[in-house]
Amino acid sequence: MGYPQVFLHGGSTWAEEASLDFSDNSNPLGPPPQVEEALSHAAELGVYRRFPAHLAEETLREYEGVEVTVFNGATEALLYALLDLKPRRIAVPWPSYGDYLRIAQLLGVETVRFPPWRLEVLKPGDVVVLANPNNPLGYHWPRDVVLDYADQVRRRGARLLVDESFLDFVRGETAAPDLPVVKSYGKFLAAPGLRLGALLYRHKAPPPWRINSLADYAVYTAGAAALRRHREKTLQYLDLEKPRFEAAIRKCVAYVPSAVHFYTVIGPPPPRVKTRPLGDKGVQGFRVSLKSPAANDVLINAICRNI
Ligand SMILES: Cc1ncc(COP(=O)(O)O)c(C=O)c1O
Repeated sequence: MGYPQVFLHGGSTWAEEASLDFSDNSNPLGPPPQVEEALSHAAELGVYRRFPAHLAEETLREYEGVEVTVFNGATEALLYALLDLKPRRIAVPWPSYGDYLRIAQLLGVETVRFPPWRLEVLKPGDVVVLANPNNPLGYHWPRDVVLDYADQVRRRGARLLVDESFLDFVRGETAAPDLPVVKSYGKFLAAPGLRLGALLYRHKAPPPWRINSLADYAVYTAGAAALRRHREKTLQYLDLEKPRFEAAIRKCVAYVPSAVHFYTVIGPPPPRVKTRPLGDKGVQGFRVSLKSPAANDVLINAICRNI
């Protein structure tokens, strides 16, 4: 639709066929059952006829252990974070999530893409947007490494904004409250259509209605304990499924080691399954995301061309 290729996205809309969609990097276990139940309830009760109460913020504050301001997806939260930080340029350790570049365009600021360790490209006033874990490569830096990186960025007169949209898929700690952090909950909740994201700090002037009532009700009703249980189940699933998947594809292709549930695989995309080609990010490969064990077998077969 006239957007530059860099704004391409994995996943699919509710109006598309979504079977064998390995481009969608949301939680392979699906949404927490309590969130799905609460969503049906919310629809029956007609909570969408009334304004949100922003009570999801209480649940997420308890889940994260830091201040939270919810937004209509990380997409909106990112815009607010960058309005706060007033960057002269937006610098993105590349490859990374492409929407940072769209937002820079919207704000009318230049962008610079650089390998994460080449900090000499930075200038005073730059804001570095680091996706940790990274999308699409899946690397994860522990909290102390991120804080140290932020110090190095600061020494060059620049600042660091961290995007932790995939942090729930690793055993890692948030860089908040030491650094400004943005987060999507659409990945972990396997519910990108809820449009739930946040800043992990208290925003001084958030929009009055910044989240929809269905998402607000569902997350508040499910509660932080249900989210924590779902996170633990997700991590346990990945502990088992990642080594099995890697052992299978290692025999046929090269892939980038990943800390999360998705991988960058080197080479042309396989036939008959949907993957996320990465040519727009300068990577000669494609991203695939784990699903159920049976679906992953289909993916393994497609990648290894044995179907
Ligand atoms: C790293 C990263 N940040 C932010 C987003 C946007 O999240 P949301 O759907 O909550 O706007 C995505 C979505 O793919 C993402 O991959």
